[in-house]
Amino acid sequence: MTDLPQLLSDRLARAFAEVAGEPTDPAVRRSDRADYQADGALRLAKQLRRPPREVAAEVLERADLGDLVANAEIAGPGFLNLTVADSALAGLLEAMAADQARLGVGLTPDPERVLVDYSGPNVAKEMHVGHLRSTIIGDALVRLLDYLGNDVVRQNHIGDWGTNFGMLIEHMIDLGTDETNAELSVGDLGAFYQDARKAFDANEDFATRSRRRVVALQGGDSETLALWRQLVELSAHYFDTVYERLEVLLRPEDTAGESSYNDQLNPVIEELLEVGLARESEGALCVFPEGFTGRDGGPLPLILRKSDGGFGYDTTDLAALRHRVRDLKARRLVYITDLGQRLHFEMVFEVGREAGWLGAEAQAEFQGFGIVLGADRKRLRTRAGDSIKLIDLIDEAVRRAAAVVAEKAPHLSEQEQNDVARMVGIGALKYADLSNDRVKDYIFDWDRMLSFDGNTAPYLQYAHARIQSVFRRGEVDPATLRGTKLALADPAEHALALRLAEFEGLLYKAAEGVELHRITGYLFDLAQAFTAFYERCPVLRAENPETRASRLVLCDVTARVLATGLSLLGIAAPSRM
Ligand code: ARG
Repeated sequence: MTDLPQLLSDRLARAFAEVAGEPTDPAVRRSDRADYQADGALRLAKQLRRPPREVAAEVLERADLGDLVANAEIAGPGFLNLTVADSALAGLLEAMAADQARLGVGLTPDPERVLVDYSGPNVAKEMHVGHLRSTIIGDALVRLLDYLGNDVVRQNHIGDWGTNFGMLIEHMIDLGTDETNAELSVGDLGAFYQDARKAFDANEDFATRSRRRVVALQGGDSETLALWRQLVELSAHYFDTVYERLEVLLRPEDTAGESSYNDQLNPVIEELLEVGLARESEGALCVFPEGFTGRDGGPLPLILRKSDGGFGYDTTDLAALRHRVRDLKARRLVYITDLGQRLHFEMVFEVGREAGWLGAEAQAEFQGFGIVLGADRKRLRTRAGDSIKLIDLIDEAVRRAAAVVAEKAPHLSEQEQNDVARMVGIGALKYADLSNDRVKDYIFDWDRMLSFDGNTAPYLQYAHARIQSVFRRGEVDPATLRGTKLALADPAEHALALRLAEFEGLLYKAAEGVELHRITGYLFDLAQAFTAFYERCPVLRAENPETRASRLVLCDVTARVLATGLSLLGIAAPSRM
């Protein structure tokens, strides 16, 4: 294990437990006054009704900090200020450096099958920036969970069923397959959907045909099903183009759309009836999960079967939940959609618990996200007020990045410039999203996300490339540094090493709470610690060969941590830029 804050916490935990008579969190965190501070004595003192400094002193006396801590002292009202010993820190960094494959990041001792439900665009409807957020966040989470050793199941719950398909199919017939194909393949899904809607509202004959088509679709009419399938495939093809361009992991085989649950809807309803959870209400069959009330104070339903006999979003999600637990054997289920769907999922999960699908063995969590805003602080749209086509957005990111790269890195060949522009553009788009606290809205700002200064992808990518250039200029192959003993004499070396030794713990925390902005914040801090180190400490021209080798190892580990961290966010790190 190379998780420094955890190592400190473990050492202190024993002493805290002795003083408290029960397990007590030492509450170790970064500190301005020392390397770390442990605040646990403050809370414990309250519990024991004793002066905090006295409790802190007793903890310190009992703690076996061994060679991990060079200096520990009581400060302020009762913090423990901890300064990590250079020798111990060097040992941790040597272990990270020696671990070519994983930088000392251990696999989880408790690997789980984790199912992540994300992206979820709708057939023949515009894939909007909300779907982009879900796709980017889900992709990073999937990579991270997989890296830590979990068995990850990706699920793309696309909207491919429902009464809308009557009008969509009729519109496709009117338009002809070629024209439909032309619209859907370039992502003109919004126009297609709107035109269908318009025809439905304006044209009585079209509306009648559409209703008849819904009946035929639900009745399994083979010609109708073939038309429906065509429509789904055209849209799915567009989704795949977006995923490919975005360089995310979603594949066609990860799709389990709403329609895939059709034959499970009745069995789910029967099961809910059997266990006494379903009941008739105003002509519809409903389930009323415990603890959810509407504005009027009355119980809030999920609708299992509408009064006209149809099924909707609620029923499908209940069937999906049951299938994911029972058949796919997921133990942790993570749902990533906009926060507007929180209530829906909280209710679905509660029904899942009441029906016994969820419990200690399988837990579901809703991880929602905020809205993407334009400069006007309203939902991001095109200048004309339309929703933005994702493929255009991705293209624009790469185009804008190309202009920046041409200016900042004219020394690269044209081919290299193109490659770097792609990595920077797509990286910037993802990073801008992930670096914001997930639950907050954020303002989409091209200039900021593509800036080489600040908490951005280009800044980190550039920091990584700059370290690579040290190795190129010095003609050093990092492999030759194997077994180098580290010396951390300079405070800037010490500070950089501290950040590096936090990598493992950071990843586990980010995975636990689906807090990817922790990773971006960490990488940004790390890059700044590196810059401070690089400004103070000559590397290739260090005073002696031992110092030079030691500093080169710090460079190498930093570059690998940056590249690994970025790759877990789905962002590439060019070696030159
Ligand atoms: N299609 C939905 C939408 O566009 C998202 C699906 C989310 N996943 C789910 N299991 N309902 O909002």
